[in-house]
Amino acid sequence: MKAKMTKVLDSIIRAGLRSPKIVTLMVTNGCNLSCLHCWPESRSCGTAPPVPADTIRRLIGEFVLLGVEEICLTGGEPLTHPDWFEILSFACRQPGLNRVRLQTNATLLTEVDIEALGSIDFKGLTMQVSLEGALAETNDRVRGPGSFEQAFRGLKFLAEAGLGQQVVVAFTETQHNFAELPRLLQLLDGLGIGRLVSGTLVLGGRAAHSDQVAPPTPAQYRELLNLYHSDPQFRSRYKKLGNIAAFEWFTGKSCPASEGCICIETPYINADGEMYPCLMLPIDKLAAKDVFHRPLDEVLLEALSLWAELPDLNRRRSVELEACKNCPGRLHCAGGCMGRAYAATGDFMNVEDRCALRKSVYSWEAPQESPHTAKS
Ligand SMILES: C[S@@+](CC[C@H](N)C(=O)[O-])C[C@H]1O[C@@H](n2cnc3c(N)ncnc32)[C@H](O)[C@@H]1O
Repeated sequence: MKAKMTKVLDSIIRAGLRSPKIVTLMVTNGCNLSCLHCWPESRSCGTAPPVPADTIRRLIGEFVLLGVEEICLTGGEPLTHPDWFEILSFACRQPGLNRVRLQTNATLLTEVDIEALGSIDFKGLTMQVSLEGALAETNDRVRGPGSFEQAFRGLKFLAEAGLGQQVVVAFTETQHNFAELPRLLQLLDGLGIGRLVSGTLVLGGRAAHSDQVAPPTPAQYRELLNLYHSDPQFRSRYKKLGNIAAFEWFTGKSCPASEGCICIETPYINADGEMYPCLMLPIDKLAAKDVFHRPLDEVLLEALSLWAELPDLNRRRSVELEACKNCPGRLHCAGGCMGRAYAATGDFMNVEDRCALRKSVYSWEAPQESPHTAKS
């Protein structure tokens, strides 16, 4: 098996791609919630069978032989998989993995689960818990009635068990929840949670057909930058536990995007056994099929021909896209995410859907202090 993986690695390098580093595995597309914005359009647990644990263990083992550093278990809701804990602890025991991440809504976590999670002796285990607001009504508008209270109980259990620093809260930015980011930072800091990561809503899956959710506006991004500039408490909380796209873009704006995204470094396997070069590129023509019934080396060798043009395409976007020519952030953004561009326009050779947001951040300037308020 090791020899086969070495051969695949050679082929990946020869194709001008990079070997997988972070693998996202959907262990089931069944979910106990029905979020308005759900990108993979998860279904009720009764209609979406979980991926057999044996299959998941085999894939994890093969990816480890390939030199993968991180496994992310997602769904659907992974906690609805009958063997979720056994799969998670198996991944945590794999030598060579630096990080194992469990993406969950945390609403089903019991005290027994928390005790079991606490028994996993692996510092690289991260529980990524989704919250779409600092207030119940804001979160529940997207995730459904009662979901904030249940998720918050899960977070409290984790924090009380001393696992708070291993928790990352994931927040999907929309117009209706964006202003709550500072309040959410405060709430999580008080609870002892390690990190808050936010990402802009992707207009894919259920979000593409919903008139109830929309991405934030450039004015909202600029307002948050103004607050960051004027409020030292918010700034210090952000530095302690935040990762919000607007600030990361602003601070990184003069750093060139290294070689652009090479896509295959972060492959994604859905619960139907289809493998894509990246979570952001779940496109039919890029799908390597039947992953659950074939050895990984065979699937990857087939996938290489489907994915071979992606790196060049992505590099071309960064130099050829007309909309980028006069943008102050063009070096850093380089056309943005190719997957987001395709999801929004059906065309790789286009800027991503956050172009206006990014431009508003790259061109933001700190407000001038008035002579009356300026400190001497
Ligand atoms: C699809 S969920 C699956 C794991 C788990 N059930 C959960 O709620 O975290 C993984 C993450 O994707 C985010 N997500 C879902 N739809 C999205 C969209 N249209 N745009 C951006 N993020 C989205 C969720 O908010 C969640 O943080």
